[in-house]
Amino acid sequence: MNKKIYIETYGCQMNVVDSEVIFSIMRKEGYERTTVMEDADIILANTCSVRDNAEQRIWGRIEVFRKMKESNPGVIVGIVGCMAERLKEELTKTGKVDLVAGPDTYRTIPDMIKEITPGNPAINVLLSREETYADIVPVRTDKNGVSAFISIMRGCNNVCSYCVVPYTRGAERSRDPETILSEAREVFSRGYKEITLLGQNVDSYLWTDGQRQVDFPDLLESVALIDPSLRVRFATNHPKDISDKLIQTMARHDNICDHIHLPVQSGSDRMLEKMRRRYTREWYLDRVRKIREILPGCGITTDVIAGFCSETEEDHQATLSLFKEVAFDYAYMFCYSERPGTIAARHYPDDVPQEVKTRRLNEIIELQNQLSLESNRSDIGKTFEVLVEGPSKRNPEELCGRTGSDKMCVFPGLGHKAGDYVQVRIADCTSATLLGTIVE
Ligand code: SAH
Ligand code: SF4
Ligand code: F3S
Repeated sequence: MNKKIYIETYGCQMNVVDSEVIFSIMRKEGYERTTVMEDADIILANTCSVRDNAEQRIWGRIEVFRKMKESNPGVIVGIVGCMAERLKEELTKTGKVDLVAGPDTYRTIPDMIKEITPGNPAINVLLSREETYADIVPVRTDKNGVSAFISIMRGCNNVCSYCVVPYTRGAERSRDPETILSEAREVFSRGYKEITLLGQNVDSYLWTDGQRQVDFPDLLESVALIDPSLRVRFATNHPKDISDKLIQTMARHDNICDHIHLPVQSGSDRMLEKMRRRYTREWYLDRVRKIREILPGCGITTDVIAGFCSETEEDHQATLSLFKEVAFDYAYMFCYSERPGTIAARHYPDDVPQEVKTRRLNEIIELQNQLSLESNRSDIGKTFEVLVEGPSKRNPEELCGRTGSDKMCVFPGLGHKAGDYVQVRIADCTSATLLGTIVE
C-alpha cells in the first residue's frame, strides 16, 4: 500500500500552490495524498509568518500533532514554508517536529525523510536565487475544478519595513514564461475556466533569455490568448510599479478580469515613507484615477495596516479619508504585528498600544463595510457575466460565482453547473454578496 501524505496549508494563496508542488514531488516518490490526518504517514503544516497570530496558530497545531504522535509514533511531522524558514533550528530544538523545510527546499523533502531517525530531525532552510519549481506540475487541490492558481515568480525584492516575506521567501525570481504557458494550457484543456497568476509583486515579473524579454503585461496577454473562454486574473500588484501598459493590456482583452488588488497599507505619507513603500498618497490616488479612466467598472481592492510604528490619530484619519476617496470594493485589514528581524522591528518601537490599534482597525472595518455595501448597491439593476463556481455555501439550492470585478454573486441555478458562464442580473445585495437571477 502507498504511504500517505497530509498537508495543512496556512497563509497566502502561494502557499496553496506550494502545497500542490509538494504533493507532486511526493507523488513521484510513491506517496498518495490524503485529506484525513489520522490516515497519514507524513503530516506537514505549510506555514505563514506574516503576523504573529499566524504563527501562534501553528504552535497550537504543533501540540495537536505531538499528541497524534503519542498514539502513532511512526508518523513524521514536518513544518514547511515561511515559519520553517524564519525559525529554523528553533523548531527542531522543540523535539516536537521531525522535519523543517524552507520554501526553496521542497525538492529535497524525499531525501530529508530518508535521513530522519528518532531524535534526529532533518532540516533544510537554504534559500535559492533560482528555484521556481518551473518544471513541476502541481497536483491541483481545489474543490471545484474551475479556478486554478499558477505561481509565476517567487520571493520579493522590496523591503517594506514591516514585512517578513523577503526574509522567508528570499530574493525575487521570475519563472520561465514557456513553463507558465504550458501549465496554463494544460489546466485549460482539463476544463478549468479561470487562472490566477500569482506573485508578491507581479508588476516586477521579468524574464530574459538573452534575446527575448517578457514583462508581466506580455505574459498576461499570452495567457489571455490561450482561449477567449479562459478568464485570467492576477495578484498582487504594487502601487509603485503598476504600469499603464498593464492597464492597457487589461483593456484590450475581455477575458482579463477587471480587478486589481492594490495594497495601499496606509493613507499617510509619513507612514508610507516609514513603511518603505516608495510611493505617496498622491501617487496611489493617481494610479487609481488611471485605472478608472481606462477600465471603468474595474474592481479595486486593497490591504491596510492599522497602528504601524508611531502612527498618530492624524495618520489614521488620513487612511480613513483615503478609503473614502477611493471607495474600495473590498479590503483585507490588519493590526500591525511586529516581526522579528524586519527593518521596523530593528529601528522603530512598536509603540501604538494594542487597544488603539484595535480601535483604529475597527474604524477602518466599519467604514469599509459601508463602502462595500455602497459599491454593491450601485450594481443593483446591472447584468454581469459570472463564472459558476458551485453551490452557494449558505443555500445549496442556489449557485455562486464571481463577476469579473471579483464580487461574489448568488443566484438560483436553473440547471447550470460549475464552470458555466451565466449572465446574472443583480436584484439585491449585502455588503459581501450580490444577489440576482440568471437572464438568458
Ligand atoms: N506582496 C503583497 C502582500 C504580502 S503580505 C504586497 O506587497 O502588498 C499581505 C499583507 O499582509 C500585506 O499587504 C500587509 O497588509 C499585511 N502585512 C504584512 N506584514 C504585516 C505585519 N507585520 N503586520 C500586519 N500586517 C502585515
Ligand atoms: Fe512584503 Fe512589501 Fe514584498 Fe509585499 S512588496 S511581500 S509587503 S516586502
Ligand atoms: Fe505568509 Fe509566507 Fe505567504 S509569510 S503570506 S505564507 S509568503
